[in-house]
Amino acid sequence: MHKTDDIVLLEDVYKIYKMGDVQLTALNGIALSIKRGEYVAIMGASGSGKSTLMNILGCLDRPSGGKYYLEGIDVSGFSKGELADIRNKKLGFVFQSFNLLSRTTVLENIEMPLIYSRNFSKTDIDRIRQVMKTLGLEKHENHYPNQLSGGQQQRVAIARAIINNPSLLLADEPTGNLDSATSVEVMHVLQDLNQKMGITIVLVTHENDIARYAGRIIVLKDGKVLKHISKQQFNLL
Ligand SMILES: Nc1ncnc2c1ncn2[C@@H]1O[C@H](COP(=O)(O)OP(=O)(O)O)[C@@H](O)[C@H]1O
Ligand SMILES: [Mg+2]
Repeated sequence: MHKTDDIVLLEDVYKIYKMGDVQLTALNGIALSIKRGEYVAIMGASGSGKSTLMNILGCLDRPSGGKYYLEGIDVSGFSKGELADIRNKKLGFVFQSFNLLSRTTVLENIEMPLIYSRNFSKTDIDRIRQVMKTLGLEKHENHYPNQLSGGQQQRVAIARAIINNPSLLLADEPTGNLDSATSVEVMHVLQDLNQKMGITIVLVTHENDIARYAGRIIVLKDGKVLKHISKQQFNLL
């Protein structure tokens, strides 16, 4: 029914938060598609619905109305358990605050999603070492997060996010806690994952210099898509 090169297809998606008698429409009829291999940045003022949209894309929350097809699967009506399952199989997350386990080594942090998703096998350790190498972490496998710089910690978080070969990598302000030089380093890592490994990325940022790395920018306003901007158009702004 849906073309399989759409990783994400949203049709008229609403999210309405109910607080007692008060209703707040955080997403107000979002239609959008993201193709396999794309790199999309989501921008918009505070309160425009970026985090709400990311929560829905990340199967952390369900739309109040409309449809969400993730690789052609209608997940809009999924139960919490079904959403958790599809999250483990298809999605990777990178957060502003890294969210690493502090008493756990780099290697153990990266292996965590593999342990949750299925029986751990010996070939997994080879994959972990390969991903560590890709991200320049091979010398740190036995280090703890507090022994690493911010940029290294975010690279561990990225390694953990891609260890299950996700269909979609979601990053919410991934450089929000990093200085500008380290932000550039992390953005080059994400760019390589997209260009060399073909990983589809959706990233939220409020910084133009970060959004510039994406192939397309989606601007939200009041819970709606205000505009799509191509990389070429954006660089002329
Ligand atoms: N859990 C919630 N309950 C009620 N209102 C919420 C909740 N989360 C977000 N909102 C509201 O929804 C709107 C969009 O918020 P959000 O998605 O966090 O925007 P952004 O990430 O762009 O700042 C805001 O008006 C916000 O106050
Ligand atoms: Mg937000």
